[in-house]
Amino acid sequence: MFPFTGRKIYQQYFDPRAYLESYFHLGSGTMIDRYLYFVLKELVDTFKSGKVKGDTLIDIGTGPTIYQLLSACEVFQNIIVSDLTDRNREEFNLWLNNHPGAFDWCAVVKHVCHLERNRISCREKEERLRKSIKQVLKCNILKANPFDPVTLPQADCVLSCLCLEAACRDYDTLITAVKNITTLLKPGGYLVLAGVMGNPFFIVGEVRFSSLNVDEVLLTEAITGAGYVIENFHRYKKMENPMEDKDSFVAYYFIIARKAING
Ligand SMILES: C[S@@+](CC[C@H](N)C(=O)[O-])C[C@H]1O[C@@H](n2cnc3c(N)ncnc32)[C@H](O)[C@@H]1O
Repeated sequence: MFPFTGRKIYQQYFDPRAYLESYFHLGSGTMIDRYLYFVLKELVDTFKSGKVKGDTLIDIGTGPTIYQLLSACEVFQNIIVSDLTDRNREEFNLWLNNHPGAFDWCAVVKHVCHLERNRISCREKEERLRKSIKQVLKCNILKANPFDPVTLPQADCVLSCLCLEAACRDYDTLITAVKNITTLLKPGGYLVLAGVMGNPFFIVGEVRFSSLNVDEVLLTEAITGAGYVIENFHRYKKMENPMEDKDSFVAYYFIIARKAING
């Protein structure tokens, strides 16, 4: 099994720029393209549905990316983004402050505008998202209060993409992490999760980061065990994993779950 890469390794070695350059040039034909096309469509449908709504959304483990928020900002006026590492939050802030050195998200933004049949320009879409982002905070989903020492009011929606598998060493930790992020959500609020199954690691720059091998049964147990009803569990078909042997497959998931009213 690939060794777990924990908090210290993220803080020291996770290079946000290398992550963006490797995975977020939509149209590169890589496996992550398939993830992006899948998840962007799911996010558009989710936030267009009118079911997931309210004032405040917290994105957990945002990293340096904005793709996961482009549809959410059509619904939520207050978005809080968060990550474990200083460098990820700094890279996110470059984009937020419209810094000339920020990553160019144009291809991704254009695709989302196209899916939303929106006539606004990429610049307008990015501006809309910038306006909705109210805080960029440090978080650690392995803490009972992930924002400790800050206590946030409970949100209407908690979103997290590609973070649980990265942050959790084993299944028990994943179960605890889901419970921890659930404390951030109002009763009746929605948890929206996207991620990857069956992928033992991913590479950023020259560094390999572990990815917990989750499956549908485990995710379902962790989510229902934290007090949710799962409303959607979508899976993008299994694909051969080019990084592993022939018998290894990866699949992407997208989950919408509602926290129990008396939760
Ligand atoms: C694969 S990246 C995903 C980034 C982004 N959400 C995306 O969809 O591309 C995993 C992220 O999880 C963050 N992370 C790792 N451990 C964490 C923890 N214990 N608490 C919060 N975030 C964590 C990392 O800093 C990194 O930004």
